[in-house]
Amino acid sequence: MELDRTLIKTELLLKGYSKLSQFYLEDELASVSTATAEMINKWYERNIEDSDYWNYTWEGHGRVLYRIHNLERNKHPSINELCSGQKLLKAVSEIYGDEVVPTAHALIIKLPRIGASVPWHRDPVNVPAGCVYNFSIFLDDSYPANGCLEMLPGSHWLPPEFPVDRDRSPEGCEAVVSKRGDISIHDVRIVHGSGPSTGDSMRRSIVIEFCPKWIVDARSRGLISQS
Ligand code: NI
Repeated sequence: MELDRTLIKTELLLKGYSKLSQFYLEDELASVSTATAEMINKWYERNIEDSDYWNYTWEGHGRVLYRIHNLERNKHPSINELCSGQKLLKAVSEIYGDEVVPTAHALIIKLPRIGASVPWHRDPVNVPAGCVYNFSIFLDDSYPANGCLEMLPGSHWLPPEFPVDRDRSPEGCEAVVSKRGDISIHDVRIVHGSGPSTGDSMRRSIVIEFCPKWIVDARSRGLISQS
């Protein structure tokens, strides 16, 4: 797949987010799609206690699963194949123009009608803007009714101490509507959030944080603190 690197880099620097439309084809997503649906179903059927399955209790609905953390750690081979596949890694290194390492993997889940909103925030990663990006691989279509991502363009350049109102959509924010197979990329410093899921459709995405190797090295030498 040919990437328009100039467009992506420009959007990432100016707006703080960009998109790779229809990056994955249907047959590339089929097994991950089935595997993640089974993980969700099994967790509900067997009432699994596992600290990687992040959930909250909602009165009248019981436990609501919203995130499966450490997704790369033996959850399912198809997930590892997708997340460490050459197709993705080639695109990522082309976009960064640098050696990168994946530093976090998670499955984000919004169940139909009971998917909670995510308050407005900046990801708690201590780096300057323009360095570290989260890649969201969409396994389902994502739009306002099922709580799609929303971003405040340009806010990745705001200083770290800029106050973010967790509960109020900032003026000028934009909904990031995505299709199954798309990848959205956002700067970890951007102000972002997402609404509740009120529709009948499931919304799953695999989020991978990619970090330039020099930052990982700088952290290990104590030149940049983790948070
Ligand atoms: Ni976030």
